[in-house]
Amino acid sequence: MKHNDFYKKILDNNKAWVEEKLAINPSYFKRLSENQTPPLLWIGCSDSRVPANEIIGAEPGDVFVHRNIANMVIHSDMNMLSVLDYAVNILKVKNIIVCGHYGCGGILAAMKNESYGLIDNWIRHIKTVYRLHHVELNQIESETERFNRFVELNVQEQVYDLAKTSIVQQAWTQKQELSIHGWVYGLNSGYVTDLQVNVTSNQDLDEVYQLKFKKL
Ligand code: CO
Repeated sequence: MKHNDFYKKILDNNKAWVEEKLAINPSYFKRLSENQTPPLLWIGCSDSRVPANEIIGAEPGDVFVHRNIANMVIHSDMNMLSVLDYAVNILKVKNIIVCGHYGCGGILAAMKNESYGLIDNWIRHIKTVYRLHHVELNQIESETERFNRFVELNVQEQVYDLAKTSIVQQAWTQKQELSIHGWVYGLNSGYVTDLQVNVTSNQDLDEVYQLKFKKL
């Protein structure tokens, strides 16, 4: 009989993990099954090398996670909007982290002109970030440095795009405690860098994005 070794290994890993957790705390899963109150929403890249929980030493129950190609915040993406709405309005997370990473394939594709099929339509949103910052980016001669800077600028724009949503603006209007952070993860170092994107109210957005809410 032919086995898929990796597939078998992950099932065995799961059993070992359960046993390890129970050895430390016999009610570990019982406690986790009762409810979740994560203080953090993570919006990261789908890249297999950037596992949200692992790189910040978080445990199950700590992080509500949304991942897609190049950690994008796209305003017509019902998946992202639903995660964001649930995290902000039901879970009441206090922090949202947009975590990009150097060496991101989605960002690299957006710098180039090759077509990859359907995904071109997703990548197109990243190209818009390039267009917004083309003066700065085109001045960078080294392609590697331009790529790295593009990764950072994309994270920054996604932080702003989160702040532009009605969900975040409404939370801030209601004085809900909610901070948004932009991080970049270094694939070859393991360290994250906080880009210190400072958006704390809708006053930090271009005026045209600032929403006024009707009083209920
Ligand atoms: Co990526």
